[in-house]
Amino acid sequence: MTTSKIAVIVLAAGLGTRMKSKLSKVLHPLAGRPMINHLMETVDGLNPDEVTVVVGEYMNDVSEAVSPFPTAVQSERLGTAHAVLAARDFIADFEGNVLVLYGDTPLITLETLEAMLNARASLLDPAVVVLGFTPDDPSNYGRLFLGEDGVLEAIVEAKDATNEQLKIGLCNSGVMAIDGKVMWGLLDRVGKDNRKGEYYLTDIIKLARNDGRACVAIDGDVDELIGINSRIELAEAEAILQDRLRFQAMESGVSLTDPTTVFLCQDTKLGKDVLIGPNVFFGPGVTVGDGAVINAFCHIEGTEILSKASIGPFARLRPGTKISEGAKVGNFVEVKNALLESEAKVSHLSYIGDAQIGEGANIGAGTITCNYDGYLKSQTIIGKGAFVGSNTALVAPVTIGDGAIVGAGSTITKDVNADALSVTRAPQKSVDGWAKKKRKLKAVIKTKKKK
Ligand code: UD1
Ligand code: MG
Repeated sequence: MTTSKIAVIVLAAGLGTRMKSKLSKVLHPLAGRPMINHLMETVDGLNPDEVTVVVGEYMNDVSEAVSPFPTAVQSERLGTAHAVLAARDFIADFEGNVLVLYGDTPLITLETLEAMLNARASLLDPAVVVLGFTPDDPSNYGRLFLGEDGVLEAIVEAKDATNEQLKIGLCNSGVMAIDGKVMWGLLDRVGKDNRKGEYYLTDIIKLARNDGRACVAIDGDVDELIGINSRIELAEAEAILQDRLRFQAMESGVSLTDPTTVFLCQDTKLGKDVLIGPNVFFGPGVTVGDGAVINAFCHIEGTEILSKASIGPFARLRPGTKISEGAKVGNFVEVKNALLESEAKVSHLSYIGDAQIGEGANIGAGTITCNYDGYLKSQTIIGKGAFVGSNTALVAPVTIGDGAIVGAGSTITKDVNADALSVTRAPQKSVDGWAKKKRKLKAVIKTKKKK
């Protein structure tokens, strides 16, 4: 790796009009977090000496998202060269390598950034290293125009290109490593004589060549360099990132029965020997311990699942939930802000919200914690080894003591002592022969009516 100092300028002032959104383009999420935060994490990995994110006016939301990295404001959006100039006050005297990254190109990896800096340090001493790539559909990207000796001569924006130039497959990803000693001098000379009437950063190539400096393009991976300008490209980037996360999970010892149907968040933490069935969605803030099983069709967010727990199929775990060792949440069970102690079981068709369920307790099918009275949320506490019969409503606040049994079909509104039985259903009444008599009577009525 080169030992020169590194400054990073991230351009994020664009309006992102093609997203058709009130949200700033770079804040649209990928794998559960704003796209620009993926990029900032990669930038952080470089240990740069200076970092500036260029934002537009009234883009405080972006400044907050990238904090503690500082932001410079580009008050008028006059193009990518103009945007880099907005960072001038922050690094005016910087003489090392300047990496210019685009906030809407967030999937770039640390290895690629290091390769760019290494190319800057090559014997040719190129003024600019441009990261090129060859997308399937190059339509809107700038084209890299190479000379016979392979030196980069110019970048031509798609809108300004001739039909002949549009046939070039090698495109500009937007990522550049620039010699800090000449960068401001080059940018000061960029004009706006082009179809968009903007100051194009890409024009510095031609200017550097005219100064007799070399410029080079290095080849990058399409999957790292997709630029996100529309919802369609956002979805394409999401798919690429999901594949990466699935791959990393499997590499670290997680089994995914049908990887392409599992959706992960950037912060999903999965232990060893975790088994995840098909069609499972992880929202932000999920940790899964070693050996836990997540069966098909579960939706999980803000939840800690400890080792050997079993979840689903068809379970929904909402924020504030903790499922302890060996505990079980079965099919069609929703759990919110609740703690299941180890070996506790909620196997079928239940809602457990704002609750604590003691070690080894068994919660029968159709149990509902009635946690909300229309105004306030209240807690349900269920003791160790308690047994709650099927189709029970537990009206919170309520406590079921250790080892207590609640009879099926009860509506429990008062606390139940440890080891007690509590049942609220109406007593059962049976009348022998009643059904047979009724059938006979009805049959007679039916025959009469037909006549
Ligand atoms: C740009 C490149 C194009 C490249 C493509 C890769 C230029 C002139 N063109 O085109 O060669 O193939 O990216 O994705 O550089 N921005 C500002 N201020 C501005 C304008 C843009 O900060 O005044 C920022 C945007 O927020 C964005 C980045 O610069 O992060 C690129 O701008 P965008 O408008 O998306 O450029 P493209 O048309 O994609
Ligand atoms: Mg773009």
